[in-house]
Amino acid sequence: MAIVGAGSLATFLAVALHKCGYFVTEIISRNSPRPLRPARTLASKAGARAVTMRTATLDAELLWLCVPDRAIREAASSLATRAKGKVRFAFHSSGALLSRELESLRKGGTAVASVHPLMTFVPGSHPSLAGVPFALEGDAVATRLARRVVRDLGGKSFALPAARKAAYHAWATFTSPLWLAFLVTMEEAALTAGLTRTDARRMSMPIIRQTLENYSRLGPEHSFSGPIIRGDATTVAKHLVVLKKYPAVRDVYVALARATLDRLPARNQTELQRLLKN
Ligand SMILES: NC(=O)c1ccc[n+]([C@@H]2O[C@H](COP(=O)([O-])OP(=O)(O)OC[C@H]3O[C@@H](n4cnc5c(N)ncnc54)[C@H](OP(=O)(O)O)[C@@H]3O)[C@@H](O)[C@H]2O)c1
Repeated sequence: MAIVGAGSLATFLAVALHKCGYFVTEIISRNSPRPLRPARTLASKAGARAVTMRTATLDAELLWLCVPDRAIREAASSLATRAKGKVRFAFHSSGALLSRELESLRKGGTAVASVHPLMTFVPGSHPSLAGVPFALEGDAVATRLARRVVRDLGGKSFALPAARKAAYHAWATFTSPLWLAFLVTMEEAALTAGLTRTDARRMSMPIIRQTLENYSRLGPEHSFSGPIIRGDATTVAKHLVVLKKYPAVRDVYVALARATLDRLPARNQTELQRLLKN
């Protein structure tokens, strides 16, 4: 396999593939005056060569594009002429874009697929892929190969209809990036109580872990506690007053509290709804 990119996903994937017996031939970086250092470091870990788009030999059966969504089409086009007759399969890993982004490769006879792991990859973290869902979409032969690769990586693949990809990815964005946005807002709320962000992170971890554990085991309704389920409107009113000085935090509080009223059990609904209207 040859991998385009040396960023977060590529770094994880190249090493994981190498460890489970795949032969990673090249780590391909864009042609830029910037140093090839990330690609070189990654190539040395994965037993591959670090090359650029211009110098890549593409001596691989599978080309896996691990570049930002906005660069997939362009990267595929730049490699299409040289891939013709050599590269049998090509994947990209965007959760929102279709395999159609690889059309320039497909025209040269390469079977293409989008292969999206529902996992977060950031520098310095090494997630397990055991049981991680991978959404597959694309040409039948390419998705067949993808299923095998995903199985070898320890993941679980599922077919995602092309028409549902964008919606799937909107949902997926709640599972990590927007969840992080919530946690950053939680840290800001802690500042209002005179705590530091570090305090907030350290002090909140036990309750956050327990909430996730409850959510996973008991479901949302049976994991729900706090002033809203109890119908303690005066407590909620106090929160809204202290948060007035921090409108961005207050907006998130109000949006989530409203979502709660619509979706989770709450006593004293009328009073809470009145409070949250303002
Ligand atoms: N990270 C995740 O958690 C995650 C999870 C699931 C799916 N994905 C998908 O994986 C893909 C890559 O995401 P990422 O998070 O790994 O991105 P990333 O960390 O930003 O890395 C992108 C890599 O692509 C290179 N690149 C940028 N433009 C290029 C171009 N025109 N030609 C060749 N290489 C180019 C970058 O090189 P420079 O350093 O030179 O810019 C960098 O090495 C995306 O499609 C994303 O949706 C990511």
